[in-house]
Amino acid sequence: MPEMSSSTSSQTGPGTTLAPLALCASETLIERGKAHTFELLYFGEPVTAFVLRFDGRAVAYLNRCAHVPTEMDWQQGEFLDRDRRYIICSIHGAVYDPQDGRCVTGMCGRHGLTALQVEERDGQVYWYPTRDIRPAFED
Ligand code: FES
Repeated sequence: MPEMSSSTSSQTGPGTTLAPLALCASETLIERGKAHTFELLYFGEPVTAFVLRFDGRAVAYLNRCAHVPTEMDWQQGEFLDRDRRYIICSIHGAVYDPQDGRCVTGMCGRHGLTALQVEERDGQVYWYPTRDIRPAFED
């Protein structure tokens, strides 16, 4: 479960963002390794999300395939294909670019993954919730 950040900064990036939440320590995310998964509310619906490190950058998406809105990991936190180049859906094999979540091939068509805004600082990975994508647990 994500823990509340002590930061009070709340407005960065496009759109309305809420106060950032600390998701995990930066060192938890190994290059092209297992993702850190967490829960949130997507328009009020419980959904899992994940953050992983790809080409040095922390990237985060809803764990929700563009083909059928179902979880994609083949084991918990395992989203990358055998070559560790793409995010692959374990259900029907849709392939996504980890850099931006766009569909590369498969049954995702012109749709892609829903990206979450994350940032790393001081050895922590933070997520910036929005009005529509909110923490599962709020005080
Ligand atoms: S559910 Fe992901 S490709 Fe079909």
